[in-house]
Amino acid sequence: MKKSHKDKIVVVGAGNVGEAIAYTLMVRVQANDIVLVDVNEDRAKGAALDIAHGTSFFKQVWVRQGGYEECADAQMIIITAGIARKPGQTRLDLAKTNVSIVKSITENIMKYAKNPLILVVSNPADITTMAVQQVSGLPAERVIGSGTSLDTARFRYILSEKLHVNIEDINAYILGEHGDSQVPIYSSANVGGFPLEEYAGQVGAQLDKKAIAERTKNGGAEVIKLKGATFYGIAMAVSNIVETIMKDDNALLPVAHVLDESFGEWAGVAISLPCRLGWEGIVQTHRIPMDENEKKLMDHSAELLKEFAKQALA
Ligand code: 2OP
Repeated sequence: MKKSHKDKIVVVGAGNVGEAIAYTLMVRVQANDIVLVDVNEDRAKGAALDIAHGTSFFKQVWVRQGGYEECADAQMIIITAGIARKPGQTRLDLAKTNVSIVKSITENIMKYAKNPLILVVSNPADITTMAVQQVSGLPAERVIGSGTSLDTARFRYILSEKLHVNIEDINAYILGEHGDSQVPIYSSANVGGFPLEEYAGQVGAQLDKKAIAERTKNGGAEVIKLKGATFYGIAMAVSNIVETIMKDDNALLPVAHVLDESFGEWAGVAISLPCRLGWEGIVQTHRIPMDENEKKLMDHSAELLKEFAKQALA
């Protein structure tokens, strides 16, 4: 796809998450045209207007409601639609409902878009990424799941807090599932090039690695318990992914996509690994060095996702 003079991003789903994404994209002037698509057109119109009213404080960005035909010339399409888990509902129930929602959204997108670049945010994000790739038939590099980008941000935040150091100096990934089987990659984590423990020792900080990983994993649930939903965190994670794609800047981000045969046991599963991103989507998927335990945990995460996908995508 060629760069157009008028970059357009379509956000499907104008709930809390879609709205927060549109807001963040507008404030950061990440496209000239931001279109919200939702079955509830009034909700999408209201969200778009609310955000558009503030554009005079930033730069010229169009924010509006629209239909799926808007996907035809969009540089990126972001799928956020889906339901949140209701009391008594299992994770599988949620997965089945949201898989069926994203499947029908994908069919609608593909009616208009030839070779779209799709970013999948709806939970369970890795499973819905697989569903979108399956239904669209797009190359896996063009169907990107937000994956563990937010978990990685939470991890870096907690580490920066514990170590009293600028978050930009923390290099550390959470990989695997965006969910309970996620894997903290401590073996290569560093602070400005210092191994984590070495740095912690120098500043006299105590690092309880297990507790930090646990708090990272439960970060979403912690916010949901306190305020009922998460949306700013995921919106900023998505905005960061959009930035590297729209600027074609080759940043490495932990995102999910359906892995190919070269990944052996992990093939066919959408799981997060560090990926280099650019204008066409995922340019390269990196195999970061892991210790034996991390490898085992990644195998476990991929296995769980594979089993779960079998039921949810059936
Ligand atoms: C989050 O991690 C719940 O997936 C959502 O914020």
